[in-house]
Amino acid sequence: LLKVMRIYLPQENVHNRKSSHCLCLLQIMLVSPQAERNWESLCSVLEEVLEEQSHRQLFGLELGSGTGQHVIRFAQKIPFVTWQPSDIKQESRDSIKAYIAATNAKTVLQPVHLDASEPWEKWAGLHNNSCDVIIAINLLQYSSFKTIPFTADTSGSAGQLLKQNGLLMTYGVYAINGIITPSCNERLDAELRQLNPDWGLPDIDVLRQLAYGSGLRMERMVGP
Ligand SMILES: C[S@@+](CC[C@H](N)C(=O)[O-])C[C@H]1O[C@@H](n2cnc3c(N)ncnc32)[C@H](O)[C@@H]1O
Repeated sequence: LLKVMRIYLPQENVHNRKSSHCLCLLQIMLVSPQAERNWESLCSVLEEVLEEQSHRQLFGLELGSGTGQHVIRFAQKIPFVTWQPSDIKQESRDSIKAYIAATNAKTVLQPVHLDASEPWEKWAGLHNNSCDVIIAINLLQYSSFKTIPFTADTSGSAGQLLKQNGLLMTYGVYAINGIITPSCNERLDAELRQLNPDWGLPDIDVLRQLAYGSGLRMERMVGP
């Protein structure tokens, strides 16, 4: 991740730049080149699947928001969704706050601490049946199958929080029927498992079954 620093000057100092006393608030906007590359295609899928509900304001939860680049772009392109970004890491939440301030985003709420491996009752006070959409981008490969947010171990958190006909969208690298291709993804899987034996590329078919167990139906797979 690259780090971009943005300096905010308090208003009085902006108007009186000769002032020798200046309080500088440094907020770090993290930059993920990967997020910069993939946000546009993710956004167009979101736009397409949410379009028919665009007559009303929707509520979207992002798990593992990371830098905040995705949620800010989604908010700019899809104004009829109010987004709740979240992350387990303070550094990420600070970056998201910096993006919100820098872009003056009105439909992005302040980020909350949320550990997706915990049961939904501990998800930042969110209520069941409160979300129209939940999105997790490049998060599942860093989760044990036991803690993936729609398994029984977490009381099927996503299924609990989503409204009827709500949508859970996950993006990442997956195994299909136990097979991982191409070889760079095999290497990624091995590297992740070395970091944590519980991590690794989730298998689409296992996810499908787990999701079904918590009331979710796999609707569509977009991509290769
Ligand atoms: C690979 S990064 C992806 C970030 C962002 N979604 C993106 O695609 O640029 C994974 C993110 O998930 C967060 N994370 C890891 N484990 C988590 C958990 N159990 N609950 C919530 N967030 C988690 C990390 O702090 C990190 O920001």
